[in-house]
Amino acid sequence: MAKTPTGKNTSGRGQRDLTVKVKTARGRTLSSTRWLQRQLNDPYVKRAQAEGYRGRAAFKIMELDDKYRFLVNGARIVDLGCAPGGWCQVAVKRVNALGEKPGKKVGTILGIDLQEVDPIPGCVFHQLDFMDEGADDKVKEWLGGKADVVMSDMAASSSGHKQTDHLRIISLCEAAAYFAFDVLEEGGTFVAKVLAGGAEGDLQKLLKQKFTKVFNMKPPSSRSDSSEKFVVAMGFRG
Ligand SMILES: C[S@@+](CC[C@H](N)C(=O)[O-])C[C@H]1O[C@@H](n2cnc3c(N)ncnc32)[C@H](O)[C@@H]1O
Repeated sequence: MAKTPTGKNTSGRGQRDLTVKVKTARGRTLSSTRWLQRQLNDPYVKRAQAEGYRGRAAFKIMELDDKYRFLVNGARIVDLGCAPGGWCQVAVKRVNALGEKPGKKVGTILGIDLQEVDPIPGCVFHQLDFMDEGADDKVKEWLGGKADVVMSDMAASSSGHKQTDHLRIISLCEAAAYFAFDVLEEGGTFVAKVLAGGAEGDLQKLLKQKFTKVFNMKPPSSRSDSSEKFVVAMGFRG
């Protein structure tokens, strides 16, 4: 029987309809009413709240790591565009950033964002545009060396025009990839959100030159009506 992320069966028979319906209200547009309704009924949003994660995005990095295993004990992680911090919360446990697993290496997590991020034990945050001149050197200085993983869930602000948004996120992702080339240790991993579509071919080509393996995955928690997917590039050639 199919189960939702909250572990409940979805057969539906004999069950009450628990869907939260949002009424339109003065000043609220139809699209924000729809967004609110989807948010209130999203099982991953509910699960994030129940498990103390700062957003449903946490499940995407969990599912990516469950498959490709890059968040290992002792790993040094750079999270580009980390706010509000869901990915970092997941990384803290998986890389043993708090040293809670006896005898295992202790990892490091450095989060970068344009916005301020509320503290998370085991993480260091810096408010920074990763595209600023010298940002890569600053990150290496803060990290005390190179990184094992550079991950990016960055999104450019939406213009509402599909093709423009696609090009913006691809160029953001390309910039993140070049940043990763400067910061990653040989053998390291780059994980980034991309939008499926026309312009991503060049990015894939670039990553295939720089890494020994390049995978694409749409995690189950990524909304099916979104064209986002994730690229996981492993084995940085240096
Ligand atoms: C979808 S959110 C990330 C969510 C995060 N993975 C989590 O689990 O909480 C994308 C973030 O990218 C940040 N961002 C976008 N462009 C950036 C840039 N040039 N430098 C740093 N951060 C950036 C935004 O401020 C935003 O907080």
